[in-house]
Amino acid sequence: MSSEKTNQSWGGRFSEPVDAFVARFTASVDFDKRLYRHDILGSQAHARMLAQAGVLSEAERDAIVAGLDEIRGEIEAGTFEWRVDLEDVHMNIEARLTERLGVVGKKLHTGRSRNDQVATDIRLWLRDEIDAILAELNRLQAGLLQLAEAEADTIMPGFTHLQTAQPVTFGHHLLAWFEMLSRDHERLVDCRTRVNRMPLGSAALAGTTYPIQRQVTCELLGFEAIGGNSLDGVSDRDFAIEFCAAASLAMMHLSRFSEELVLWTSAQFQFIDLPDRFCTGSSIMPQKKNPDVPELVRGKTGRVFGALTGLLTLMKGQPLAYNKDNQEDKEPLFDAADTLRDSLRAFADMVPAIKPKREIMREAARRGFSTATDLADYLVRKGLPFRDCHEIVGHAVKYGVDSGKDLAEMSLDELRRFSDQIEQDVFAVLTLEGSVNARDHIGGTAPAQVRAAVQRGRELLAQR
Ligand code: ARG
Repeated sequence: MSSEKTNQSWGGRFSEPVDAFVARFTASVDFDKRLYRHDILGSQAHARMLAQAGVLSEAERDAIVAGLDEIRGEIEAGTFEWRVDLEDVHMNIEARLTERLGVVGKKLHTGRSRNDQVATDIRLWLRDEIDAILAELNRLQAGLLQLAEAEADTIMPGFTHLQTAQPVTFGHHLLAWFEMLSRDHERLVDCRTRVNRMPLGSAALAGTTYPIQRQVTCELLGFEAIGGNSLDGVSDRDFAIEFCAAASLAMMHLSRFSEELVLWTSAQFQFIDLPDRFCTGSSIMPQKKNPDVPELVRGKTGRVFGALTGLLTLMKGQPLAYNKDNQEDKEPLFDAADTLRDSLRAFADMVPAIKPKREIMREAARRGFSTATDLADYLVRKGLPFRDCHEIVGHAVKYGVDSGKDLAEMSLDELRRFSDQIEQDVFAVLTLEGSVNARDHIGGTAPAQVRAAVQRGRELLAQR
């Protein structure tokens, strides 16, 4: 073991310096330095509160607050020297403050611990991240509404089992994504209320002997509530897990959406075109235009699921209260937030630029007997029981498969072979327009319903 000089912050208790490798191994500064803004905000609020409580003088408070502002300036200018031997963002900033202010800097940590400090920082950081994510989510949803409105009358095949099922409007299909994203929005907003509770004042684990005024820091930092138990405040990370769970669901939705875009841009489907700026080519195959953005979002979904599983596993065996294990919460959480935010941003940019190929979609809906259910429903209206109608239409479809004709392409005589209840009016039912227009209820695929749903969606977005 080397005896390089390392952190002296707890020098009193130790008779030899921390081993240099152990110092690096236990340090988090390389990744937690991104919390610097929130760390400084938390420290400034803490100093203000200490002054109000009579623990710091006003002059000391002012020196600390100004010193921290200057340190933030140094960090943002790139002149701050991050030291691994100072372990983490908290001690780096505090050490620099003491370097600048001398003895006053050493007073900042009165009545607090890195345990409540870091828990506070992560919550403040995550609160801002959620807000930024919600803004991208809004942008994507607005884009979906715009495209859905433009494509309210566009007909495509709807699928079950990835087999042609019934005709739907493209606008209706797009609004399915809108609904999923609305629930993601709700989940993130709900999660934010539990993120936004203040652990500061928990100190190391038991609270502190100083006359702290937690409602003061709570208000200064914009927290909605004060954590009710100091042991819980420093140790639980359920808020981060909850965020990763909400992020996982949102990514799962984006991944499914991605899969459709990949399918739709393929030569086999050709339902849509993505602008070149969202695609790349191949270094060997000159004809290729690959849907990289959706593919990558689909792939990145795994990282977020991984973060969720990682954090759950991180917490499951920990006794109260803080344990160093918790330092491992940051990288997965940061990565999950970055991944979701970037993926939403990519989708928000890309979705309004989707170019549907309406004729090809329509042609695909025309093939595949997508109006077979409509024919069965027609026979029900003529008085037959549904099960019998199902069988009659099944025979007609079999005939169509053998003869290479869709239902609408058969003559009345041909159709009447399967039921003498079929009359001339059947052809209105077998058209694609007839099929989608008939599904005219809330949540149905009729163009009128798509337009109404777009309207409801706009009202929802306006209320946020
Ligand atoms: N870097 C630490 C973390 O991320 C800060 C808290 C350290 N607390 C301690 N008692 N070692 O969790």
